Amino acid sequence: MSTYLVTGACGFIGSNFVYHALEREPGAVVVALDNLSFAANPANLDPLRGRIELVVADICDFPAMTRVYERFRPDYVVNFAAESHNDRAVLDPSSFARTNALGAQILLEASRRRPPRRHLHVSTIEVYGELPGEAPFFTEASALNAKTPYSAAKAAGDQFVRAYMQTYPELDLAMTHCANNYGPYQFPEKLIPLMITNVLRGRRVPVYGDGLQRRDWLHVSDHCAAIWAVLHAPRAVFGPEAAVHPEKLPIFDVSARHEVTNLEIVRAVLELLGKRPEEWIEHVPDRPNHDRRYLIDPAKLEAELGWRPAVEFTAGLEATVRWYVDHRPWWESILARTGDLQFDWAAGADPAGVNRTT
Ligand SMILES: NC(=O)c1ccc[n+]([C@@H]2O[C@H](COP(=O)([O-])OP(=O)(O)OC[C@H]3O[C@@H](n4cnc5c(N)ncnc54)[C@H](O)[C@@H]3O)[C@@H](O)[C@H]2O)c1
Repeated sequence: MSTYLVTGACGFIGSNFVYHALEREPGAVVVALDNLSFAANPANLDPLRGRIELVVADICDFPAMTRVYERFRPDYVVNFAAESHNDRAVLDPSSFARTNALGAQILLEASRRRPPRRHLHVSTIEVYGELPGEAPFFTEASALNAKTPYSAAKAAGDQFVRAYMQTYPELDLAMTHCANNYGPYQFPEKLIPLMITNVLRGRRVPVYGDGLQRRDWLHVSDHCAAIWAVLHAPRAVFGPEAAVHPEKLPIFDVSARHEVTNLEIVRAVLELLGKRPEEWIEHVPDRPNHDRRYLIDPAKLEAELGWRPAVEFTAGLEATVRWYVDHRPWWESILARTGDLQFDWAAGADPAGVNRTT
C-alpha cells in the first residue's frame, strides 16, 4: 500500500488526480494538501471524505512541510499546488512567484531531507513561451522562454526541478509539462467553465480580442493518466550530457496534439448548449501580452511509457459541458463566495477575489 502526498489537491487537476489515484490503487493512503487559496474548492473531494487525509497547509512553509513528511512518510509526492490563472498573474505577479517558484523549491527541499520513492512536479506547456507560427511544436529539448508572469513563475519552479535532478541524482524526481486541460471541477474563471456558467446564467460570453489564440487541449483524465504513468515508470538513468540535452532528464511533455483557437472552442460550447454563437459572443479587449500559440509533442511519453490520450476532443467537450449543466450547485456555490469572475481589461480588470500582495 502506497502513500501519495498530493499538493494543490483542492484545485482542478489535483482533485481529479486524487480520484484517479484511488481508482488505480484503491487501498492507497492519499494525503490531499492545499492551502485553500482563492481557486481551491474542498467540496471537490467531499465524496472521498473518510478515504483521504485532508491537510490544510502552505507548500511555502518549510516547517509545515517537514511535519507533513514526518507524519505521513509519503512514497509519492505530486506537486500540483500553484497559482494558475494567467489573468490574475498580470494583476498580482508576487503571489505567483511565491508559490510557483519558491513553493516548488521548498517542496523539493522537503523531499531531499526525507526522500519519497518519487517526487513529480507538474508543470505546463506555457514555460516554453510562444510558438512561432511556422514551427510544428515544442519538445522537451526546447528552451524555456516564459513570456507572462504566470509562465515565468512556473519556469522558475522548473529550473529548480532541473537543478535538483542534476545536483542530487540520488533523489528520484520527474516533471511533466502539459497542454491546456479541460474537464470537471475546473474553477469557473477559466475559459471553458466561464463560458458555460455565463450561458447557463443568461450572460453573453467574452472572447478576448479576435479569439484566434491557438491552444493545445487535453482532457484532464488523460493528464492524470500521464502523471500516473510517469510516477510509476522505471527510474530514469541519465548522465552529465543531460546538462546540455534536457530531453534526457525525466521530463515528459503531455498533449493530444489537438490545436484549436479559442473562438472555435467558444463556438463549439455554444452549439452544445443550443445557442447561436453570433448572438452570444462578445469580443472584449484582450489581456496584455496574451500568448498567440503553443503546442507540444508527446512523442517521448508515447515512445517510452506507451501513454496515449483516450478522450477524443469533441466527445470530451460534450461530456464536460454536460457535467457543468448537471452540477449547477457546485459552481453556484463557488460564485456565491467569489462574486463575478469575469475579467474586464477595458475597465482595469479587477474582479472579486484578486488578493494583491504588493
Ligand atoms: N489547468 C491547466 O490547463 C494546466 C495545464 C498544464 C499544467 N497545469 C499545472 O497543473 C497544476 C494544477 O493546475 P490547476 O489548473 O488544477 O490549478 P488550480 O488553480 O485549479 O489549483 C491549484 C491548487 O493549488 C492550491 N495552492 C495554491 N497555492 C498553494 C500553496 N502555496 N500551498 C498549497 N496549495 C496551494 C490552490 O488552493 C488550488 O487548490 C499547476 O501547477 C498548473 O501550473 C495546469
